[in-house]
Amino acid sequence: MNKDIIFEDLGYDPTEWDLLIERQRTLVAKHKKNPEILKVYFQDHWRDKLRRFLGEARADRYVAGEELIARTGLFTPEILGFGRARGLSYVKMQYIDGVELISVIQWLSENEYGQILNEILKQFGELVGILHKAGLVHGDLRAGNVLCKIQKNTIQQVLIDHDRSRKVGFKKHEQLRNLMQLSMVERNVFTYERIDQIFDGYNVHMNYSNEQLNSLKKQAINWGESRKNLDRIRTLPEKHCLWCEENLKPILRDIQIQIQKGV
Ligand SMILES: Nc1ncnc2c1ncn2[C@@H]1O[C@H](COP(=O)(O)OP(=O)(O)O)[C@@H](O)[C@H]1O
Ligand SMILES: [Mg+2]
Repeated sequence: MNKDIIFEDLGYDPTEWDLLIERQRTLVAKHKKNPEILKVYFQDHWRDKLRRFLGEARADRYVAGEELIARTGLFTPEILGFGRARGLSYVKMQYIDGVELISVIQWLSENEYGQILNEILKQFGELVGILHKAGLVHGDLRAGNVLCKIQKNTIQQVLIDHDRSRKVGFKKHEQLRNLMQLSMVERNVFTYERIDQIFDGYNVHMNYSNEQLNSLKKQAINWGESRKNLDRIRTLPEKHCLWCEENLKPILRDIQIQIQKGV
């Protein structure tokens, strides 16, 4: 589908936006001047078409999911608008000036900042614990959907991509997936020690006994390793290295990590 037509259908001027990502059914664009992101859904699956017909577009689901997550105090981009037109739906949100968590992990690892890396993983585990404690899951918690943003000497983990964020009864595999997706890369890159850090953080909120936690970890690792589609770790893009050099390196000495508002 032509990108300009998509923007025009939604009432936006295509010349004001830079395309960041275009996939089969979505595109993400950044405003040239304002700190705004536009995520557009198109070419819906028949199931999405039916849902839209029944009154719920994918953008509506994003907004509902984001609202649940934001209520826990976890960071998400502020929603600035949403709507639909002719088979399309969109969410306009705050632009998060940062890089994907996977880039930070990789950069810290390559530069041998193991201690701060462990702390970041532990905090990520805590973040998942906060979600699950609240009865919520994030639908796709790969490291690309966690952005790291710097505020003075604090690095904040911000969750994006809320299309499938939702309330869930206790469906174990969804919880396991949230815990494991980040580490579903080759084990020499994401070691078991790093997985341990995530679970240690997780348990700050879940309060499992050692036995329970170990058993959960085993299940999670089995689950993760039975998936065939292990994400291959991507090569860190040049600009992400630069971002880490410029923004992260200067504050590493007394860096704080923040995953929740006001905490
Ligand atoms: N609010 C935002 N601020 C900054 N970058 C964003 C924002 N939303 C999305 N992005 C960038 O666009 C990418 C794709 O967005 P995402 O919502 O995850 O879409 P997809 O469903 O295609 O994964 C993200 O990984 C991130 O790099
Ligand atoms: Mg994503």
